[in-house]
Amino acid sequence: MEQVKLGNTGLEVGVAGLGSGGSSRLGQGYGLPKADSVKVIKAALDIGITFFDTAAVYKTEKIVGEGLLGQRQNVVISTKAQIIKPGSPALGDNMAPPSQIREGLESSLKNLQTDYVDIFHLHGVMPNQYSYCVEHLVPELIKMREEGKIRHIGITERFITDTDHTMLSKAVADDFWDVVMIGLNFLNPSARKLLFPSTQKKGIATLIMFAVRTALSRTSVLKELLQEMVDNKLIDQAIASEPEPLKFLTDPGIAVSIMDAAYRFCRFEPGAEVILTGTGNVDHLRQNVASICAPALPSETLTHLETIFGHVDTVSGN
Ligand SMILES: NC(=O)c1ccc[n+]([C@@H]2O[C@H](COP(=O)([O-])OP(=O)(O)OC[C@H]3O[C@@H](n4cnc5c(N)ncnc54)[C@H](OP(=O)(O)O)[C@@H]3O)[C@@H](O)[C@H]2O)c1
Repeated sequence: MEQVKLGNTGLEVGVAGLGSGGSSRLGQGYGLPKADSVKVIKAALDIGITFFDTAAVYKTEKIVGEGLLGQRQNVVISTKAQIIKPGSPALGDNMAPPSQIREGLESSLKNLQTDYVDIFHLHGVMPNQYSYCVEHLVPELIKMREEGKIRHIGITERFITDTDHTMLSKAVADDFWDVVMIGLNFLNPSARKLLFPSTQKKGIATLIMFAVRTALSRTSVLKELLQEMVDNKLIDQAIASEPEPLKFLTDPGIAVSIMDAAYRFCRFEPGAEVILTGTGNVDHLRQNVASICAPALPSETLTHLETIFGHVDTVSGN
């Protein structure tokens, strides 16, 4: 697998990273036995994946820890702390105190069976929560980094609602963040203008989520979303009326499926470093990694996508 440098962190990893969140959560989202989810981690190692993303709220840290036993020196582990008090509404302003972030790290270390994490993120920060995070939580993260318990500090956006990257636009203008996790797919390529120029200039590492998510992994959801985009005057009716959505992507010699096109789109977006893929199915994992490692889409196809979706910053593909 092709190796990529993660910004200025000094880390180098395979371009495809395994995510253990999303709707699948390594299959835990649909009741896969834990041992089978552990097998997904081990299969990922066999395929050459060296980047593993998890989070306290996904409840997959223990599975990741078990799957990576004996491999600690060969992998990069990314996990996240919840920034609101447990039980408070996700979009409320009931923010976690710094002590909760530290307790979160201690619990993650235990779950992951390690004494350090490579990247520790504040998870799903909303624009109205950002200044609290900077004022109260960043100093604690910096202390934890100085203690060697975390190697790099990261922040992830809540792309489902923050589709125009309002929070991360502030974050990339600051100088605290070593790593950011960004929502990107061909339906909403707005990170291209809003984030990548800064991350590239400053050497902030980028992890890409939402490459396929729900809309680009299920045809029926894609059809519904395209119609919604027509109704909201984002795209032309003709695109949503096609019997097979976005057929030009799967014409001979272009891509083998919409998902294949979606992963390749992200992989070759300048500024995108690790492309995350989440699954509980080893065959899906192999297909997705093959797509991430396949050549770029033809330039005419990219131009076609840009013409249709280049201006969109209001959908996530969730
Ligand atoms: N704010 C945040 O911090 C945040 C938010 C979202 C995601 N993330 C991270 O990003 C990672 C990626 O998440 P994502 O939201 O981009 O979505 P994703 O987890 O990659 O979603 C892919 C979905 O498509 C299915 N799928 C995967 N491969 C398939 C294939 N070849 N054929 C058919 N279906 C397939 C998966 O289920 P199957 O199990 O059936 O394959 C899953 O439901 C997460 O795991 C997580 O680590 C972070």
